[in-house]
Amino acid sequence: MKVGIVGKGGVGKTTLSSLICEGFRARGKRVLAIDTDSNPNLAISLGLSEEAANSAPIVPRALAVGGMAQWTPERLIETFALTTPSGIMMLHAMRVDQAGAGCTCTSHAAVRSILGSAIEEMADITLVDMEAGLEHLSRSGGTLAYADILLMVMEPTRKSILTAARTIELAQELGIPRIAGVGNKAKLPQDAAFYEEVAAEFGVPIAGIVPWNADVPLADRRGTPILPEEAASVRAAVEGLLEFIESPEAERNALLAERARIERRLIQLNAD
Ligand SMILES: Nc1ncnc2c1ncn2[C@@H]1O[C@H](COP(=O)(O)OP(=O)(O)OP(=O)(O)O)[C@@H](O)[C@H]1O
Ligand SMILES: [Mg+2]
Repeated sequence: MKVGIVGKGGVGKTTLSSLICEGFRARGKRVLAIDTDSNPNLAISLGLSEEAANSAPIVPRALAVGGMAQWTPERLIETFALTTPSGIMMLHAMRVDQAGAGCTCTSHAAVRSILGSAIEEMADITLVDMEAGLEHLSRSGGTLAYADILLMVMEPTRKSILTAARTIELAQELGIPRIAGVGNKAKLPQDAAFYEEVAAEFGVPIAGIVPWNADVPLADRRGTPILPEEAASVRAAVEGLLEFIESPEAERNALLAERARIERRLIQLNAD
């Protein structure tokens, strides 16, 4: 299963990427996380030190040219992956630490090659935390062209839902089979209602609604992952996302109705 996490800047892509990866890891899955942000910080959310994140080896851009010919997925992971404390394999696709170093198109194409390879021999779940914006869906033949599912993270603003609606068009052109929105940072019951209304207006299917929780920015400020005892409401919603990702087509609607009921209850509890 190859999952792409996309959305406007600051909506919570990295936060949800880390929790989804840890959630699958806790279920005993082999998880590969790929950070494509040129200012990478997924590693820190997954419990690696700043030093480890800053000195992580970068996947060679040459992958884009020769494809995976010289790099079996096994060798690629052995050579370039870091392992997090919970055993998640983590690749860094790019880092911009030199002014004027040129564009990152070939790095995006390298990620495309990895997703197009037999990476499932090494990982049950490969998750790509994308940098903000829509460019990655159009350039280099579409970085996420081989993704099985695209989750578009949103916050309760019209603009972020509009971004998701635009993403759907591009993702459909690429042929990504499953595309759904995730309404993050829902603070009030009205936020959940807003997601449902506006997403219906723009035709964005909703995979789940994730409450706003003060523990999340606190962990950010500490520069550590969210601790196991923190952000229970967010973790509960992420469990729903794991089921959504894993659930076959037919079960999805029933599952979604149940999730929506639980999430509204959680948001109500938060508001109280
Ligand atoms: N459910 C949540 N509740 C409260 N705060 C949240 C939640 N999700 C994310 N945040 C906060 O929103 C901010 C942005 O989160 P994050 O870095 O995960 O977003 P991003 O989409 O990866 O950003 P970028 O576009 O810069 O990569 C952070 O301060 C984070 O703590
Ligand atoms: Mg991010």
